[in-house]
Amino acid sequence: MNKDEMKPMKIPRIKDGTVIDHIPSGNALKVLRILKIPTLDSNTVSVAINVKSKMGKKDIVKVENRELGREEVDKIALIAPKATINIIRGYEVAEKHKVELPDELSGIARCQNPTCISNAGEPVQSRFIVTDKEIPRIKCYYCQREPEDIADRII
Ligand code: CTP
Repeated sequence: MNKDEMKPMKIPRIKDGTVIDHIPSGNALKVLRILKIPTLDSNTVSVAINVKSKMGKKDIVKVENRELGREEVDKIALIAPKATINIIRGYEVAEKHKVELPDELSGIARCQNPTCISNAGEPVQSRFIVTDKEIPRIKCYYCQREPEDIADRII
């Protein structure tokens, strides 16, 4: 084996954009779905799945030339509550934030209960109370139903 073969292969650093780091192993594809990649985004995206880190394995998503909005970050927090969002400008980490769920979420997930007022075709936006920010857990503000699989409910 030559020296190059011994070197671990890393996904390249990016010039400008966002690195979503510390995604629980195996959840990168859910993050891509939240970011509407590839359907609504033509920026270059690199994904690393099952990367070894200090605390076990993790996934990483790097999106070039894009900074994320508040709603997108809240959605990511639902499936990756310990993720960090690194904003890269000119190859430097210009900002680093840990995602943090707010106490309530509006319009970012659909209630699982088909008879909930938020699913009745009325002009009522879905609304959830965040009951546990670590796991995380949410329940519908209107009917109290807790979704079984939060990732499946994200709009
Ligand atoms: N990164 C990148 N392109 C850059 C700079 C950083 O892709 N130009 C990535 C790094 O590969 C890493 C993440 O952004 O996945 C955060 O970078 P950095 O803060 O330098 O790494 P750590 O100190 O290891 O981050 P943390 O402490 O949050 O684990």
